[in-house]
Amino acid sequence: MSGMIVSVQGLSKSYGKRAVLKGVSFEVKEAEIIALVGPSGGGKSTVLRCIAGLEPFDEGLVRVGGAELRAGSLELQRKSLGALRKESGFVFQSWELFPHRTALENVYEAPVYVKRMPIEEAKAQARSLLERVGLRHRENALPKQMSGGEQQRCAIARALAMAPRVLLMDEPTSALDPQRVGEIASLLASLREREALTLLIVTHEMGFAARLADRAIVLCDGEVIEEGPPSRLLSAPSDPRTRSFLGLG
Ligand SMILES: Nc1ncnc2c1ncn2[C@@H]1O[C@H](COP(=O)(O)OP(=O)(O)OP(=O)(O)O)[C@@H](O)[C@H]1O
Ligand SMILES: [Mg+2]
Repeated sequence: MSGMIVSVQGLSKSYGKRAVLKGVSFEVKEAEIIALVGPSGGGKSTVLRCIAGLEPFDEGLVRVGGAELRAGSLELQRKSLGALRKESGFVFQSWELFPHRTALENVYEAPVYVKRMPIEEAKAQARSLLERVGLRHRENALPKQMSGGEQQRCAIARALAMAPRVLLMDEPTSALDPQRVGEIASLLASLREREALTLLIVTHEMGFAARLADRAIVLCDGEVIEEGPPSRLLSAPSDPRTRSFLGLG
């Protein structure tokens, strides 16, 4: 379908005998912001890791831009993985900065070594990204010298430095205070406006989802049980499992 930048079709995955994804399907339009929500253990991180090409799956198909991943070994799909990595960036639940690199180095190194961007250009870009996430004054800090929220914002800047078309984020605001959550929401909204960035965000914060997302997809026990505008899900969820996940009884 034209205008669709991410397509997940019939994604299934088991760990041993436990099926954790049971035929998950959804599509994401270019510049759309999707919140992937649902109870803990429902499979949100697993779906994101499959879309990022970090995890093989047993059945189904994943398409991101022009890259396509199929079920089975990732080892046999090197070319597709390479194409996929050019299209998408990932911010993990545990943000995993390089521990012996400063904030600035964490942000500018991938563009230099992966994209061959000239170092001065990469540094200038990194400084402007650090500015946008409110970390310009911390550019020389090592990850262990930064707070959890600062590390998280640094990880977001690092992902943006590669100018992905699609950004996959696993709980990008879990270590942030409400003010920072608001700031990150504004930053992401502006990236969508200015750069047509497509965002797929796993979050537990329905306030964040409601403020930012065009659409929420509810994943429960490895299945999509409901999707729609976050405001509608919050006010009138149709599935009883969404109701109970939202604490609406
Ligand atoms: N490497 C693994 N080996 C075995 N089981 C796993 C593995 N990773 C995840 N699981 C299981 O798969 C299911 C889905 O996990 P996943 O991390 O995708 O859930 P989630 O929706 O992201 O949860 P949370 O909101 O707590 O982060 C869980 O039952 C989890 O225990
Ligand atoms: Mg998770």
